[in-house]
Amino acid sequence: MLTVENLSVRYGHIHAVREASLTVEPGEIVAILGANGAGKSSLLKAIVGLEPAVDGTVSWREQRLDQLSAHQVAHTGVALVPEGRQVLPTMSVRDNLLLGGYKHHAGRLRDLLGPISWLMRDVGLQDRLDRVFRLFPRLEERQGQMAGSLSGGEQQMLATGRALMASPELLLLDEPSIGLAPNLVRDTMQLLVGLRQEGLTILLVEQDAHAALRIADRGYVMETGRVVADGTAKELLASPRMRRAYLGIA
Ligand SMILES: Nc1ncnc2c1ncn2[C@@H]1O[C@H](COP(=O)(O)OP(=O)(O)OP(=O)(O)O)[C@@H](O)[C@H]1O
Ligand SMILES: [Mg+2]
Repeated sequence: MLTVENLSVRYGHIHAVREASLTVEPGEIVAILGANGAGKSSLLKAIVGLEPAVDGTVSWREQRLDQLSAHQVAHTGVALVPEGRQVLPTMSVRDNLLLGGYKHHAGRLRDLLGPISWLMRDVGLQDRLDRVFRLFPRLEERQGQMAGSLSGGEQQMLATGRALMASPELLLLDEPSIGLAPNLVRDTMQLLVGLRQEGLTILLVEQDAHAALRIADRGYVMETGRVVADGTAKELLASPRMRRAYLGIA
């Protein structure tokens, strides 16, 4: 369903992603593991059009994404929860969420239609907001509060909720567990399992390999821009190399 083939990303002379290939089937949770600087975020950004790929292809449901802008990709049912959450700190929780839903219809059409698009925007918006509040009651309680005043765990909920406001079919998450206490890491992973049960397909970048492989069906390992290993979560958990390099087990 998502097919990435020989994708390369460069920043000047830095070759951040080197001919990376991977697939994600409908309903799967797939993990991407790797050390700092391995190219994981660059790969996700290239998939959603936030960084241009210098080479390779990205296909999603028989549609090529690699030539699309980030805004166009958002319309194909693919959403990214970015590294570092990136909530808008001086806006309310509710407005941060609405922005995620607004992206759904933002762009050229809005410019052409002007105020009419505000009506379009509202189609289903309340339902999506209700759904996010059902998933994260904490966000509903704090909907009037500035996003910047939320705890790290709550900001992660907000970043995830904002992405869900676009009703994606494929959700990409970039290190959602970073900086969270172990119980919140578990909650985050359980949330992803629940979203998968609701029909979402998930591509999860994580440095917490244990946490990711516990819920993932399959995984890929990146080193210096390349995919150097892949397998089922079970295979990766059992691999001596993985255990040494990423799982902290001698
Ligand atoms: N905007 C940029 N300009 C220049 N170099 C960049 C930029 N973004 C990333 N890089 C470089 O590209 C390489 C891959 O970075 P990337 O952020 O994709 O890695 P990562 O696997 O997500 O790392 P981390 O686990 O620390 O988030 C690194 O060497 C990084 O320094
Ligand atoms: Mg990263």
